Amino acid sequence: MSILIKNGRVVTAESDYIADVYVEGEQIVAVGKDLPYKANRIINAKNKLVFPGGIDPHVHLDMPFMGTYSSDDYTSGTRAALFGGTTMVIDFILQTQGDTLKNALKTWQEKSQGKALGDYSYHMAVTDFNKKTAKEVIHMIEKEGITSFKTFMAYKGALMIDDGQMVQLMKVVKEHGGMVTVHATNGDIIDSMVAKNRAEGNLSPLYHYLSQPEVTEAEASARFTDMLHYTGCPGYIVHMTCEGALNAVRDCSHRNQKLFVETCTQYLTLDASLYKRKDGAKWVMSPPLREKKDQVALWSGINQGLVQVVGTDHCPFTWKQKQMGKKDFSKIPNGHPAIEHRMELLFSEGVNKGRISLNKFVEVSSTNAAKIFGMYPRKGTISIGADADLVIFNPKKKHTLSHKTHHMNADYSSYEGFKLTGKTETVLMRGQVAIEKNECHLEPGYGKFVKRGKISLTI
Ligand code: URP
Ligand code: ZN
Ligand code: ZN
Repeated sequence: MSILIKNGRVVTAESDYIADVYVEGEQIVAVGKDLPYKANRIINAKNKLVFPGGIDPHVHLDMPFMGTYSSDDYTSGTRAALFGGTTMVIDFILQTQGDTLKNALKTWQEKSQGKALGDYSYHMAVTDFNKKTAKEVIHMIEKEGITSFKTFMAYKGALMIDDGQMVQLMKVVKEHGGMVTVHATNGDIIDSMVAKNRAEGNLSPLYHYLSQPEVTEAEASARFTDMLHYTGCPGYIVHMTCEGALNAVRDCSHRNQKLFVETCTQYLTLDASLYKRKDGAKWVMSPPLREKKDQVALWSGINQGLVQVVGTDHCPFTWKQKQMGKKDFSKIPNGHPAIEHRMELLFSEGVNKGRISLNKFVEVSSTNAAKIFGMYPRKGTISIGADADLVIFNPKKKHTLSHKTHHMNADYSSYEGFKLTGKTETVLMRGQVAIEKNECHLEPGYGKFVKRGKISLTI
């Protein structure tokens, strides 16, 4: 099968020009003006943007959490991602405390094999570090192509590791060419504030927000960077939300550390006033949404190169699941549906509103994740030999987000009524037309596990 995409505006992290893209099998074979190839299929991309398929390095599919499971599995989650132009995701394997990484990997392989439509990889969450885990970490990097290790500085008793374990993990990971990633919030302070609010009868979703003040994230982010500095390990802070945490990163940049930062679309576009609403549980996530001033800080962090990646932390729950915390905010499953709208939100709120350039949009939605997580240039760019994961995007098309039209397995939208300009129209997934005319043409099992290389420190 061959496809010739004609006359599109081809945008990568570095370039922007009108050209044709010729695809044969799963790869891009040629990019240039008036390509002379005869293809099985020609797609006219005049007045459209053509950019690399998005990579969302922060999603939770079919994940056991807070007494339930996130409501998108590998089929519905990767399908919804494709509708929005995201062709690859990196999900999180959770080690059960007291059990092995090997068993955790097996569980996630069972969840994903034969089920995904788009490509995927895993981060390994280390929730219990000991001598045995150290050996398994090496095996994951050298044999399984899993090179990033997620840690939690919160969720004590379920996922959190202490600073001693963190430093030991960093030493092993550094020695073998991996990276430690982190949910950086101070779990002890949060737990004490949650307990105090519950004891005082403050049980509404607003108190989820008030129990996780900015300082809890700023302090943990700084502590994490100090531990990285001490061990020399490369690191990545997931879902950064606020100015205080960003300033901690700014400080550590003076030490020339290998540190990368991700924020998520919701922290750039939504704010904590939503927690005062009756349906505030929809936005209960950790860390919580913040203030308008934090949005400004994050957009500038992107432009200053302090924030390299925009993910989603997609961790959807249905409204019924959210009702588990109807009487107590601490029982609301944390997370929200987001995988589908990342690219369109970032384009409409970022590029259209003049907050970021088109090249920066490609960089933070695709290229940097591919580079940081060891998949570049196979993923994250439009070049000869790269996987033909391509988005044909109509930059002028207006549409409105709603749970009635989205494809995620959630019966509400966190962005209900949001008006956007710019829509994903056609998506190629390793050379196959995946999305066209609002329909998905791939079957479960087309998506493949991507074995990743060692961590690249130059992006
Ligand atoms: O609220 C969130 N973020 N849920 C998913 C787990 C995590 O902390 O990333
Ligand atoms: Zn987290
Ligand atoms: Zn997460």
